[in-house]
Amino acid sequence: MNNDIKEILYSKEDIAAVTKKLGTQITKDYADKKPLVICILTGAVLFMTDLVREIDTYCEIDFMDISSYGDATESSGQVKIIKDLDKSVEGRHVLIVEDIIDTGRTLEKVMELLSHRDAASVKVCTLLDKPARREKVVTPDYAGFEVPNEFVVGYGLDYTGFYRNLPYVGILKPEVYAEN
Ligand code: XMP
Ligand code: MG
Repeated sequence: MNNDIKEILYSKEDIAAVTKKLGTQITKDYADKKPLVICILTGAVLFMTDLVREIDTYCEIDFMDISSYGDATESSGQVKIIKDLDKSVEGRHVLIVEDIIDTGRTLEKVMELLSHRDAASVKVCTLLDKPARREKVVTPDYAGFEVPNEFVVGYGLDYTGFYRNLPYVGILKPEVYAEN
């Protein structure tokens, strides 16, 4: 599995350090707000579980699974809810946690869905931001790393379902796509 990686962009230690930094900031910003932290499945699950351990104030967690029809390396604009939230967001301070914001299509749809549900506030924390490919006007309030315009895997991010369990984020070798 490690042999399929061309280059490691962010090591386990880099990710831990940036997650701690984000958690400290979120702790300050949400001190009296008891936020509802929403993990967008599946990619964000590793980041979210590490992030909440760096948030040192009351928070709840919930999960939303969104499918976006597209090929293996790109989302489409067509987004469907596979699993909705268990909790109500009404009156809540919501923090959406994403693995990566690429074109912004997924996040735009999530924001649109939540906008009808009367949250007190909705903010976004992403581990990775790839602004080079942005099509929609969505900007994360908290972001770990700005990634170059490459398809990345690891730490939750997959290619055809694999590589999510890599403890780092890296760039796949082009020949891996060629095989599929
Ligand atoms: P959009 O384009 O909707 O993308 O902002 C968000 C979702 O697309 C997936 N995505 C990636 N997954 N490596 C991945 O493993 C990438 O470089 C990448 N770029 C986009 C991902 O599921 C993300 O939530
Ligand atoms: Mg995703």
